[in-house]
Amino acid sequence: MLKKIGVLTSGGDSPGMNAAIRAVTRAALAKGIEVVGIRDGFKGLVEGWYEPFDRNSVSETIARGGTILGSARLPEFRNEEVVLKAVAKLQENGIDALVVIGGDGTYKGADALTKHGINCIGLPGTIDNDIEGTDFTIGFDTALNTIVECVDKLRDTSNSHHRCSVVEVMGNRCGDLAIYSGISCGAEILITPETGYDEEAVLEKLRYLENQGKNHAIVIVSEKVCDVKDLADKISKATGFAGRATILGHIQRGGSPTPNDRVLASRMGAKAVELLVEGVGGQCVGIKNNEIVSMSIEECVNMPRSSRKAFYKLFNTLV
Ligand code: F6P
Repeated sequence: MLKKIGVLTSGGDSPGMNAAIRAVTRAALAKGIEVVGIRDGFKGLVEGWYEPFDRNSVSETIARGGTILGSARLPEFRNEEVVLKAVAKLQENGIDALVVIGGDGTYKGADALTKHGINCIGLPGTIDNDIEGTDFTIGFDTALNTIVECVDKLRDTSNSHHRCSVVEVMGNRCGDLAIYSGISCGAEILITPETGYDEEAVLEKLRYLENQGKNHAIVIVSEKVCDVKDLADKISKATGFAGRATILGHIQRGGSPTPNDRVLASRMGAKAVELLVEGVGGQCVGIKNNEIVSMSIEECVNMPRSSRKAFYKLFNTLV
């Protein structure tokens, strides 16, 4: 019988993590299971930074961005001796199972713990939407809304000044934030890991748009694909537009979660507790066609990326 579970957040934070912590806490307490909040991800897990949670511990948190538990990256968790240290700490504290909220690095840690006898369930908490086995990750919708708000503002000023705004968005080698924001904002050009970067083709397209009478343009670029400042300079030199670069950066990770992220996190948190009660471990929760589903973490982290071809086709049709 499950008596006590822990919950932690790990990796880059994302809006909606608090809603997930709240759902896990409240769903477990409702089943008579004790809950412990673990500070600062796997680091706190190893160090024993545990705090008993009651329903008030998660009051007033559903609308808050970030994570009330704190987060950290701990690459050392790949070492078996560190995992064993965490297992010993959990056993010492009578914690039977865990819900871990984070990206695929977090999932791998959860899988290792499960293999050492601590059942873990992973919830996809990242703005990047780069986890397979789910249509959406917790935080993606909020980050997308932030980007769209910013790009709409950039469009106003770039329109007034005959400029081309080159906007870098996050994504950690996944183009979803870029393609969704590109479609939402009516961007003229997209540069993502999926499209690749062809500088001459970008400049040529801008010259073409200018000849078509376009007064301004927006280029959305996924981080780590090209240098946006360098591209903006080249645009100023090789086209009639004045190029300006904007790196949105960590602003994309903050803010109050959208209702969609709050509902998604709440549904996923409750599902994680259900799975643990059934004695399941080593699984991650996802949403597919609006149904909450689960699959093995091992399978999930080894799945190929699902295709976004239809999105790029749509973008190219509408531009
Ligand atoms: O995974 C979330 C994310 O924000 C990525 O989009 C980005 O590449 C990375 O984290 C930034 O990491 P850090 O906050 O450690 O700089």
